[in-house]
Amino acid sequence: MGHTTKYLFLLVLTLYHAYTVISAFEQFRVYIMDAQVRNLVAHISSKNNDLGNKTLTINQEFSWEFREAIGDSTVFVGQFFWMPPDNIVAKEVHFNVFDSDVARKCGQSLIKKSQCYWLVNDIGFYFAKDKPKNFALVYNW
Ligand SMILES: *[C@@H]1O[C@H](CO)[C@@H](O)[C@H](O)[C@H]1NC(C)=O
Repeated sequence: MGHTTKYLFLLVLTLYHAYTVISAFEQFRVYIMDAQVRNLVAHISSKNNDLGNKTLTINQEFSWEFREAIGDSTVFVGQFFWMPPDNIVAKEVHFNVFDSDVARKCGQSLIKKSQCYWLVNDIGFYFAKDKPKNFALVYNW
């Protein structure tokens, strides 16, 4: 092999390697949107990650993003506390805000980040993918 051929071969090999590493991950961003609850505490955690207690009021939201390897089944559990002004927990709900079922519903993609939206109002928890519209009720308070 001439030098040029050798370098070309190495370049192709490197690009192929980079491609397989990049494409082995999917990216997600999960949003928690408070539409109606004046004092909402959301505690999101996974096996490796604890986002801590977030306090939201009406029209506030927060989000986080992560990558997961193909075949991984990342699970984020959300604990939601509806706090009246006196800060005594009135209602508490917990469910998986992200798992393999939610990932499927968000629309999985190797080329773009998938978005998962959870909207909270005084009825319950609504899910939508990609664009925050067409929310569907999934869990009640
Ligand atoms: C998060 O808030 C809830 C509801 O007030 C409370 O029960 C819990 O102890 C808090 N957790 C932390 C880590 O502060």
